[in-house]
This record gives sequence, structure tokens and C-alpha cells, in this order.
Amino acid sequence: MSGFDWRRSPGFLLTFRLSAAVIAALPLMLLVRNFFAAGLGPDPGQAVTESLGIAAFQLLLATLCMTPLRRWTKWGGWLRIRRMLGLYAFFYAALHILAFLQFIVGWFDLWAAFTKRPYIIAGAVAFMCLVPLAVTSTKTMVRRLGGGWKRLHRLIYLSVVVAWIHFIWQARSDVGEMVLYGLVVLVLLALRGYWSGWSTLIPLKKE
Ligand code: HEM
Repeated sequence: MSGFDWRRSPGFLLTFRLSAAVIAALPLMLLVRNFFAAGLGPDPGQAVTESLGIAAFQLLLATLCMTPLRRWTKWGGWLRIRRMLGLYAFFYAALHILAFLQFIVGWFDLWAAFTKRPYIIAGAVAFMCLVPLAVTSTKTMVRRLGGGWKRLHRLIYLSVVVAWIHFIWQARSDVGEMVLYGLVVLVLLALRGYWSGWSTLIPLKKE
């Protein structure tokens, strides 16, 4: 008997994508609400910067979870939200940098702002890895780059590792949360290496 697979129905897919879009936008909505309700503590600028950084990192992890989820559930719907989650990660990272300039260092000497501390340089490297991914995320670019697109998009692995280094480097006291995030990164990279061969973790390397 060929049963009806509700997970493939257009209505379900649309609801799924819309829900993912709303969930990914929640950190920003909460931040704006708290900002205007003066609910961000004694240093709102710092709180905004940190919240946007966490949101960027979490969305990067969520993007990397989509392929394992598809494998485990045998449902392609996860891949339909992967690009959107990646773009959200990029969007939050860009806002995180803007908040850093606006609330922490100012806009006067950008070179000094980005090279002042090693953890900032790590953040900048993580962000620069995301830029070509965002730029080439359109369907036209996927088609135009062919096999090169996949190789280029391995930069996401480098980005998440360097973003984690940036994350743990800026910590002042309790690193428990960062270590936990590090384990998630490790598991996601190990799964990728196990399923597709370890060489596929190296950005831009030809197979
Ligand atoms: C030019 C690029 C970047 C700059 C200048 C930057 C700057 C900063 C600063 C100033 C902080 C706060 C440190 C403090 O508490 O004093 C921070 C924290 C953080 N950043 Fe970045 N960052 C950059 C890129 C990124 C990227 C690409 C990601 C993730 C994808 C990221 C994720 C985080 C996270 C998770 C935190 C910790 C937030 C917390 O403590 O709750 N950053 N960053």
C-alpha cells in the first residue's frame, strides 16, 4: 500500500519553513524587545553584542545539523531550510560586528578595532570565511560554480572552528558553556568526516 507521506505535502513544507524562519528571527525580536524595555542590564551595548554573537554561533551550528538530521530521519525537508539558516547566521554575525563598532569601540579607527586583540582577529577570520558563502548562496551561483560550490562551502567548517576559538578566547571566567559548544562542533565535524571522508573537511581541497 502506498501511504500518503504528509512530510512531503506542500502545506507541511511551507509551515516547516515558516516556523524555522520565525524561530531563527526570535533572538533578534527578543533583543529588540528587551532593548526598548530597558531589560538588558547595566551595559546594554555589551549585552546586545554578546547576544548577537551567540545567535550567530548557534545558527551556524544549526546549519551544520541539517545534513545529519536528513540522514537520520531520511527526510529532505531539513535541507530546504539549510541555506536560510546559514544566511541568518551571516546576518547575526554582521549585526554582531556592527554592534561591536557602535557600542564597544566606535567607528574611528577600524584597523585598530579589528586588530586590537587576538580573539577579535579570530572573529574577523570566522566572519571572512562566511562572506563568500553568503555571496554564493543563490541558485544562480550554485549552478555557475558547479562542483566548486561544494568545495567552497566547506569554509563553513573552518568558520565554525575559528568562531569557537573566538568564543572561548574572549571568556573571562566560566568556560563550561564554551566547552559544551566545542563538543557539539567536534561531534558535527566527526560525523561529517566519518560519513564523507576526512579530506572533505578541508576547505577548497580537490577530492
Ligand atoms: C570581526 C568580527 C568579530 C568581532 C569584532 C567580534 C567581537 C566580539 C566581541 C567584542 C565580543 C564580546 C567580548 C566581551 O564580552 O567583551 C564577542 C563575543 C562573541 N562573539 Fe564575536 N566578533 C566577531 C565575529 C564573530 C563571529 C563570526 C561569531 C560567530 C559566528 C562570533 C561569535 C561570538 C560569540 C559566541 C561571543 C560570546 C558571546 C557571549 O559571551 O555570550 N563573533 N565578539
